[in-house]
Formats: sequence, C-alpha cells, structure tokens
Amino acid sequence: MGMPTKNHRIWVVGATGLVGRAILDILLNEWKVSPQQVECLASPRRAGHEFNFEGHIFKLHAPQPVLFNESEHHFVLLATDAEISREWVQFISHTHIDHKITNHIPHHVTIIDSSSAFRMTPEIPLIIAGINEAQLTPANHLVASPNCTTIGLLLGIHPFWKQLSVKRLFVSTYQAASGAGQRALEALASDLKSGGTDSNEYFPYPLANECIPEIGGFNDAGFTTEEMKVLQESHKILNTTIPIHVTCSRIPVAIGHSESVTLELAEPLTHESLTKVVQASTAPSVKISEPFSGSLPLQSVIHTDAVTLSRIRIHPTDPTFLHAWIQFDNIRIGAATNVCRIVQAMM
Ligand SMILES: NC(=O)c1ccc[n+]([C@@H]2O[C@H](COP(=O)([O-])OP(=O)(O)OC[C@H]3O[C@@H](n4cnc5c(N)ncnc54)[C@H](OP(=O)(O)O)[C@@H]3O)[C@@H](O)[C@H]2O)c1
Repeated sequence: MGMPTKNHRIWVVGATGLVGRAILDILLNEWKVSPQQVECLASPRRAGHEFNFEGHIFKLHAPQPVLFNESEHHFVLLATDAEISREWVQFISHTHIDHKITNHIPHHVTIIDSSSAFRMTPEIPLIIAGINEAQLTPANHLVASPNCTTIGLLLGIHPFWKQLSVKRLFVSTYQAASGAGQRALEALASDLKSGGTDSNEYFPYPLANECIPEIGGFNDAGFTTEEMKVLQESHKILNTTIPIHVTCSRIPVAIGHSESVTLELAEPLTHESLTKVVQASTAPSVKISEPFSGSLPLQSVIHTDAVTLSRIRIHPTDPTFLHAWIQFDNIRIGAATNVCRIVQAMM
C-alpha cells in the first residue's frame, strides 16, 4: 500500500460533511499529509468561505469545471450525494456522462466516489479494500466505493466466505441515523429532544423511539433502495449470484451500523470446524469474538476501522446454518477508510 508523496494533490469534495471530515481526519491526522497538498470543496453556498478543520484553514472552492495541473497526480475523493458526484465527474472530464465517461478523465486524475452514482456501472470497479482491490489497474480513473451496509457486511462475513461454501445469505440491518448524512444526524438529535414528534425530510417517520424498516423508497416488489443496493453491490463485488435476503432498518442511534447475518452452508459445521475457521481467519479489519460466547464489543467500534464479528453460533437443530452479529462505524470503515485505502491501493 502506498502513501501520498509531494507529487500528489488530494481534493476532498464534500469536505464539510460526515464522510468528508472523516477523510480529512485520515489524511491529515493519520497519514500526516501536508494541508498544502489538500483542497477542500463543498456546496455552492460556501464557495469562497473558509473551512476550519481542527485548526487547518481551507478556502472552499466553488463547484465548477477544474483544470488539473499536469505536474502532479490528483486524487479527487467524492464524499457527496450521487447527483453531485455525477456533476463533479462531468466537471473533471469536461463532458456529459455517458458509458464512455472514464475515457474523458485526464490521465493524471483518479476519482474515487463514495456515492451510489457509478457503483453498478459495469466498467467501473466497485472496490472494498481487503476484498477485491486486486481488480484495480492503473487504467482505472474512476473507482466506486460501496454502500456502508455492503462494506460492513462483506468485510464481516469475509472469514466465512473465504473458507466455507456459502449457499445463501440472510441479513437484517439496524442502521444509524448518520448513514443518511450530517443533517439526518441533526434531525435525530432534535427528534430525541422533542420525544419523537418532529417529522423531517431525512426519515419517513420520526426516528426517536422507532425502528423503521424503510431506507430509501420501495420498488414495485416491496424492496427498498437500500436493500437492493446491498443485494446488487454484494453480487458485483463477490462475483456471485447466490440468493441474499436483505431487510434494512433505521434505528435511533447516532453512529454505528449493526447487522444480524445467517449463512446457509453447503456442509454442516461442528464446533471444532468453526473454531478452526475463526482461528485461520486473516480478514483485515475484522475483530472476531470467541465463537459460542456472549462477548459483545458493541460501541467499541465507533471512530475505529474495526468490523466486529460476535454472537458466532451454529443453529442448534440444523448445523448448515451459521449465525453472527456484525458491527462497524458506518462513516469510517463504511466509507472514509475504504476510500482512503483505495487511494493507497492505487499509488
Ligand atoms: N454517512 C455514511 O455513513 C455514508 C457511508 C457510506 C457512503 N456514504 C455516501 O457518502 C456520500 C456523502 O455522505 P455524507 O454522509 O458525508 O453526507 P453529508 O454529511 O450530507 O455531506 C454532504 C457533503 O456534500 C457537500 N455538497 C453539497 N453540494 C455540493 C456541491 N454541489 N459540490 C460539492 N460539495 C457539495 C456538502 O457541503 P455543505 O456542507 O456546503 O452542504 C457536504 O460537505 C453520500 O453519497 C453517501 O451516500 C455515506
């Protein structure tokens, strides 16, 4: 994995948002990138304003077509909603979005997008670092990072996916308000204060005291956008078509998604074989609790890059079913860390 050098410039688009700030935290505090090599961008209403990130002052650029200095390699990290990401790819490529958009991105620019805009475009790689970054080549100038729920799910089941033959996957999610962005987080805070009576544009119902099984709109078959994203993105990343049964819900938690997973396996498991699988796991970022134990890492994942895998157990009457519980920070490992690890993989 590489690290930025003096010949790299990193543009964080959506720097004032949850994912953008987490990216800045990694770049400036962990990688110690010089703030002079970082450019920050936000919505037009902030153009020209100063943005203070932990004492570093950045002048926010206006969204507009950009000419990138050829003496440097530029990484443009899009931490914006899908339609804004599309707009930015057009600004960078100086053309309209079509299926050949990647041919128009300058050779000294690499874009990594955290939104859903390009995830399912066949020629654009959809990457989870630690799972399929080997697919990346220097010819990739636009790379998509998956939905946070997909990243946590696939990193969490990785030890099992690598070592066992999985026939089918069942997942139910319990997702934090911050998965919908900074303003959704603020909406939860005001909703909790008012006791769950405030309606807002970020959740379909007041979220305080509720578990809402609706994230994104419903399709004609009764599945939500979030559920379809998890299904389709998982199939693309794992290069599989196994049935994945997903139900997504939003809960009144600020940060940290939880997922209950059940894997149907081709062969029955024993306590001994499961223990061996867990011991042999080399999955990056995954912290595995002792199988069959009640050890619960819970909020220890917040502000970290860990995906915790706990409550690991075999079904008492059918040992071809394996159950587990996954938890992770949706903003860090669910978005910002993955974007930054893709940058490293491309250096
Ligand atoms: N939150 C998560 O857990 C998570 C996880 C995985 C993926 N994602 C994806 O990551 C993206 C960002 O999510 P987020 O949670 O960080 O959202 P957010 O907190 O709402 O932040 C959105 C950012 O976009 C900026 N923006 C708005 N219009 C813009 C424009 N025209 N040009 C440049 N910047 C513009 C906003 O600037 P202002 O401050 O000026 O409005 C803000 O900085 C989304 O696509 C989301 O689906 C989020």
